[in-house]
Amino acid sequence: MTALSIRKLTGHVGAEVSGVALGDLSEEDFAAIRRALFAHGVVFFRDQRLTPEDHIAFAERWGAIDVNRFFTPLASHPCIAEVRTLPEQKTVIGGIWHADHSYNPAPAMATILVARELPDYGGDTLFASMTAAYAHLSDGLRATVDGLKAWHSDASFAAPQSEHAFNQNGITEPTLHPMAIRHPETGQKALFVNGDFTTHIDGWTEAESAPLLEYLYHFATQPEFCCRFTWSEGAVAVWDNRLVQHFATADYQGQGRLMHRVTVAGVPLS
Ligand code: SIN
Repeated sequence: MTALSIRKLTGHVGAEVSGVALGDLSEEDFAAIRRALFAHGVVFFRDQRLTPEDHIAFAERWGAIDVNRFFTPLASHPCIAEVRTLPEQKTVIGGIWHADHSYNPAPAMATILVARELPDYGGDTLFASMTAAYAHLSDGLRATVDGLKAWHSDASFAAPQSEHAFNQNGITEPTLHPMAIRHPETGQKALFVNGDFTTHIDGWTEAESAPLLEYLYHFATQPEFCCRFTWSEGAVAVWDNRLVQHFATADYQGQGRLMHRVTVAGVPLS
């Protein structure tokens, strides 16, 4: 009999899963975790201490790995991306609300983040439910958003002032997604615009788009739609980029932080 248990963390997003070892997971427990991910948007696991091989094997249970073209790969396991902050850096990777790979025609389905080196304090990751955001829009704004598409671009990786070592050769053409998507697995509707990668609404100028997009970014990340994860040694988070946005907190300057990230391929969104 399985010891898996799932504890919901907030009203709209996040659950902590305990009683499982991700490196040695039965089909039944994997199916329960998959259901929990689609129900809660992000699931957290403590005390896992996955090896890189375990991390990759767990990711492959979700689908094909979609290697991020901007991040520094782990030399020994190039499908794992290093998300590193050096003590002297003031900014962190992911310090703007975003959904991973939304700039791709098929954004990443899931991201699996493993804590490797943590600061003594800080460095939490926040998650916001895009299904809650969509559901709580007024009928009028929801109908407007339903009829719109927006452009997403990876150009923010080319910022010359960036403190982070990104591969700048990966920049591609912008891509267009509906502003409200239907989750490919469950059919749930979710808002799909983010402040890092969305540039403008299709058919509108950037200046015309900015007020509505800024309103939606602010509305979608209000505290009631969020949860906050404080990392611990051996912790793992799995999130669905079609259901949540996430934000990495830059509040541990003077200390380093290293996470290993694997992204799982998604499908085009409609
Ligand atoms: C990310 O945006 O993928 C990184 C999140 C984090 O480092 O907490």
